[in-house]
Amino acid sequence: MQEKARAVLDPVHYDYYAGGAGEEVVLAENEAAFRRFALLPRVLRGSENRDLGVDLPGGHARVPVLVAPTAFHRLAHPEGELATARAAAAAGTVLVSGMASTTRISEVTAAARAAEEAASVWFQLYLQPDEDVTECLVRRAEQAGCTALVVTADSPVLGRHRRDAEHGFHDLPAGLAAENMRDLPGTAHGGVRDIAMSPSMSWDHLARLRELTTLPLWLKGVLHPDDARLAVVHGIDGIMVSNHGGRQSDLVPAAVEALPAVCDAVSLPVVLDGGVRRGGDVAIALALGAEAVGIGRPVLWGLAADGQAGVRRVLDVLRDELDHVLALCGGRSLTDLTRDVVVTRGCGRCGQ
Ligand code: FNR
Repeated sequence: MQEKARAVLDPVHYDYYAGGAGEEVVLAENEAAFRRFALLPRVLRGSENRDLGVDLPGGHARVPVLVAPTAFHRLAHPEGELATARAAAAAGTVLVSGMASTTRISEVTAAARAAEEAASVWFQLYLQPDEDVTECLVRRAEQAGCTALVVTADSPVLGRHRRDAEHGFHDLPAGLAAENMRDLPGTAHGGVRDIAMSPSMSWDHLARLRELTTLPLWLKGVLHPDDARLAVVHGIDGIMVSNHGGRQSDLVPAAVEALPAVCDAVSLPVVLDGGVRRGGDVAIALALGAEAVGIGRPVLWGLAADGQAGVRRVLDVLRDELDHVLALCGGRSLTDLTRDVVVTRGCGRCGQ
């Protein structure tokens, strides 16, 4: 899918999607780290009927592979987020719709619901220094029928992307905009506000957001177990362990390396994203303690390659691979993927 996408995309946009921060060490490590784990199967305890479903704060997913929030889907395909929403809904999984979407959230949820009535769409939010703007975005997400909010906290400043700098890629092409940012407080009629990144955002801002809404709240971009503990104190409902697909700091661990300590620190549901490319990667993340994973770039590749059908294919391949791995592991449901079935390659020690 990635090769197909590369063939059809403008190279500047391909690099925007594919690239990472700095020397792209973390980008590569996110994928490579999965190879350092192996699964230790159980025998004689499987089933013909395997259940891949998972209940999460914000909805049920028939497969534990969520669509992670990524920006600007209309750069990949003219139908953009609408195609992604239809594919995710039809596959029975959750779409985390990005604040930096080139389609308004109300249109995204409508497309998802038209494809599958019970579809869950969550809204990803960067806390804004102007809290009236944050509140307005929350209300829009609620009115659109989103069933959870995902606050991305790993972007106090924007990561530095060498590929974008080399191409001089700063702005969306004419005709495309971050549609959720239109007509917010402080804009002229029809105007689009910039998404603000601010290093002054704090746990107090999160506490005020918690007061604003009754929707389940996920915190995305957590790597340190102490932050996971603080999230509990602040009434967060779920943690997304993520290094933003290697697009923020190039000094952090691979996402899957940071996962076990966070899972050990809290009893909240945890979702892992970053470098998930195979059903086996999903199984490893679940065995290390995640409830589900998110995928970013694979969805963009499917979308660029073949629109809605391409996204659906990506999700279906991952589901089939995960089901196969679960069978090989002697599992009946995802709860059979426990910490004792994952070991570190080379030393054979239990995953940690
Ligand atoms: C992202 N990601 C992201 N995350 C977020 O919270 N808000 C956003 O606007 C974006 N935008 C974005 C754009 C692009 C092009 C990419 C590739 C990623 C991060 C995303 O949610 C997720 O954490 C990673 O994509 C997961 O890594 P993989 O699956 O791409 O390796």
